Amino acid sequence: MKVVVLTGAGISAESGLATFRDADGLWQGHHVNDVATPEAFRRDPEVVHKFYDDRRRELRTVKPNAAHIALARLEQLLGDGLLVVTQNVDDLHERAGSSRVVHMHGELLSALCDSCQGRFAWDDDLGDAPTCPACGNDTLRPDVVWFGEMPYALDLIERALSEADLFVAIGTSGAVYPAAGFVRMAALAGAKTLELNLDPSETTYLFDDARQGPAGKLVPAWVADVQGTLR
Ligand code: APR
Repeated sequence: MKVVVLTGAGISAESGLATFRDADGLWQGHHVNDVATPEAFRRDPEVVHKFYDDRRRELRTVKPNAAHIALARLEQLLGDGLLVVTQNVDDLHERAGSSRVVHMHGELLSALCDSCQGRFAWDDDLGDAPTCPACGNDTLRPDVVWFGEMPYALDLIERALSEADLFVAIGTSGAVYPAAGFVRMAALAGAKTLELNLDPSETTYLFDDARQGPAGKLVPAWVADVQGTLR
């Protein structure tokens, strides 16, 4: 069975990380145009670095929840048949034990050099302008895909969607493309589609099946169902 799982900020909410668009979301406290565009970074890098340095530090204080752990379990069951495509920049999938994870919007624990395009594992602040380990320039930026930039690994993701038997979206509002369009691509390729989300999203109507509730409850129950069908 080939399964593609798309995750969004909602899967990490029960670990204590804010989502973007919920009442207490990141976009309530910050304006996208101040912290999540290349223009914002050129205009005021200090403000942008503070936003991501704070999130990188916060990441050390949280841990994976039952939903992340259930998906790691699913990888043990399905092996190469499972691909997790995440919009999240946290490392909670990997810390839960998942290895088949694609970060289409980048990662907090990575730095990108604007001079040589090198990408480096990074768990320190970037606000104090450290130099690039490869080219020595002080042009490191958060390795996060900002609005107006091309997401990572779209070819790989589109290939996986075209071969999927099942597409599942977890904890995402369906507000941001191209991720919000994956359900259509998977359905066109003949996949069954399932949404697991706290509230109906902007794309719930596109799914064959949709269940509402906290990911920490819905995902382990769904994985147990899948395990049952494999026996
Ligand atoms: N369990 C399941 N779903 C949840 C939970 C939970 N505990 N808590 C919140 N949700 C749902 C919300 O109902 C909402 O639909 O998660 C979704 C979070 O939506 P957003 O905050 O819009 O996050 P996301 O969809 O990941 O945003 C997509 O937008 O800001 C950009 O690049 C950023 O990757 C991000 C992209």
